[in-house]
Amino acid sequence: MEKVQLEQRAAELNKVLTQYGHEYYDLDAPTVPDAIYDQLMKELIEIEEEYPDLRFPDSPTQRVGGQTLTAFEKVTHDHPMLSLGDTFSEEDVRAFDERVRQNIGDNFRYVCELKIDGLAISLKYVDGVFVQGATRGNGTIGENITENLKTVRSVPLRLTKPVTLEARGECYMPKRSFNNLNKERAEREENLFANPRNAAAGSLRQLDPKIAASRNLSTFMYALGTNGEEFGLTCHSDALDFLEELGFRSNHERRICTSLDEVFAYIEEWTEKRPTLPYEIDGIVIKVDDYDQQQELGNTVKVPRWSIAYKFPAEEVVTKVLDIDLTVGRTGVVTPTAVLEPVLVAGTTVQRASLHNEDIIREKDIRIGDHVIIRKAGDIIPEVKQVLFDQRAEDAAPYAMPTHCPACDSELVRLEDEVALRCVNPQCFAQIAEGLAHFVSRNAMNIDGCGEKVVAQLLREGLVKDVSDLYHLKMDELIQLERMGEKSATKLIDAVEASKANSLEHLLFGLGIRHVGSKAAKILAAHFETMDALMAATEEQLTEVFEIGEKMASSLVTYFANEEVQELLSRLRDAGINMSYTGKKVDTSETDSNFNGKTIVLTGKLERLTRSEAKAKIEALGGNVTGSVSKKTDLVIAGAEAGSKLDKAEKLGIVVWDEERLIEELSE
Ligand code: IVH
Repeated sequence: MEKVQLEQRAAELNKVLTQYGHEYYDLDAPTVPDAIYDQLMKELIEIEEEYPDLRFPDSPTQRVGGQTLTAFEKVTHDHPMLSLGDTFSEEDVRAFDERVRQNIGDNFRYVCELKIDGLAISLKYVDGVFVQGATRGNGTIGENITENLKTVRSVPLRLTKPVTLEARGECYMPKRSFNNLNKERAEREENLFANPRNAAAGSLRQLDPKIAASRNLSTFMYALGTNGEEFGLTCHSDALDFLEELGFRSNHERRICTSLDEVFAYIEEWTEKRPTLPYEIDGIVIKVDDYDQQQELGNTVKVPRWSIAYKFPAEEVVTKVLDIDLTVGRTGVVTPTAVLEPVLVAGTTVQRASLHNEDIIREKDIRIGDHVIIRKAGDIIPEVKQVLFDQRAEDAAPYAMPTHCPACDSELVRLEDEVALRCVNPQCFAQIAEGLAHFVSRNAMNIDGCGEKVVAQLLREGLVKDVSDLYHLKMDELIQLERMGEKSATKLIDAVEASKANSLEHLLFGLGIRHVGSKAAKILAAHFETMDALMAATEEQLTEVFEIGEKMASSLVTYFANEEVQELLSRLRDAGINMSYTGKKVDTSETDSNFNGKTIVLTGKLERLTRSEAKAKIEALGGNVTGSVSKKTDLVIAGAEAGSKLDKAEKLGIVVWDEERLIEELSE
């Protein structure tokens, strides 16, 4: 066929396939058999492959996913994509309402909407044609995921009017698609997605649009990128109708509420009806409808003052406390942990939950054998919320914290003003082991080849009594240790040697001074530059440093005043350890804490999170978790006993975080 004829045929195919697609996907009422649809689609794909200029911007072929990308481009949003302030109680909603009334009086209305649990997207159209789709990213910069969004049926490739605008909304995975997807993945023995939100995020973060195309995603658009003045709109609810007129999908459960009582009725209704919805929601969004009033209320840097999200309480499940475990930390604090009958909470299996201290166990009256309600605080860390007393066995005895250290058997004490029980024996094996493990850890002195087991061996064999002894380890002593070959011993000695040159912040963090985390250590090292200057600083001088509070200042002064500490530091100095700030970027605190767009590898044994939990969290924040380390890897999370992947990451100079750092960043 001649090109002109093909052009005409392509136009015809575009039209009919768009129509058939609409009937099939949107109306659920196909008018042609699948085979015919497939045949016509194939014909159109072939024409477009031969003459790429005949590929119309709204061609239905793009729904099946085109070329695989190598990376996502960054896009800067024309206007920041704000987030919403969260509230968790009726009281908070009342407070929000009062603030609104103080500012704009009583003459206004709210629009209440479902808070769809997916991920925020921006869709841009020029003259009615879809030109760019992006993730929210950090609100200012997102990622260009146009090709993936083109595969989402509810994203119109051409609007009903030739307008130029940006629409914002939520892309999500319906519950049914999520369940089917996980079922298929289970059959293929692939990792399961923790929840539909992660599944949607994971799908949109695939470089191959064919994967997104296969994932049955959908959208609800909930705003215009601008305030809609150019279209003569004066309020949010009209904008939603307008979006729908243009061909977008918007959520129909929204409701105009003219009083706070109506808002509460809406919340109550949807709290109840939530399980019946075909998609996940995690709360209710309350918005002042009128644009002028929205403007009057304004925005903070991150969130609007005219809207708020009421979040449903976290998912709760019942399980049994099988035991209460005790661990001794490096500061001697004895922490009780509930060992639980494994149970699925918010998509991941929970087997342990920290009980923090004796007071909490007593207040909640948690006993071994009890049935308890578990939930995830901040959606990450499992927590025992309450005991189900009516299910308690008659012979369940109140839990008594031990009077003696589970590691060294010395008497435990409870210091004044502290809730924690402590082992104050400076020779306590568990404390020293924890302290040593901390000293050698990645963000501290970063001494490789000195895992938990090696630390325990060194202590048991008396080769090390405190951290300074690490610097006097001898080859012939080391190779006598069980399972320590010449190769590992050399590696360890080399790592110890290399650590001497670390910039001051590593030592400072490694010492394990109370309240001094890796970030504070870096600030202190950069400010005081030498250990001597820091040791000489008064509380006042310390608090003058940006981000150093009184608690930390007092802890530092007390620490350095201790004679034993001074002796330890002089032993370290004699061993040749650098005690000044070299500003070398050995630590990772300058890394962007945002996971968005990063390719991340998890390796080694994680202790506080399960692998799948960590993966799910990272993916929910826009990160892409892959299995192997390559030049494309941005970040490696190394748990205990990490092996070859960690070695490779180090060779390639890739940033490495330990689990603590991961949790810190996740909870930010
Ligand atoms: S409005 C300036 N409406 O919730 C206000 N957001 O926690 C922008 N979300 O980033 C958001 N359903 O991804 C709005 N009906 C809804 C929503 C909604 C879900 C998400 C959105 C936003 C996040 C904030």
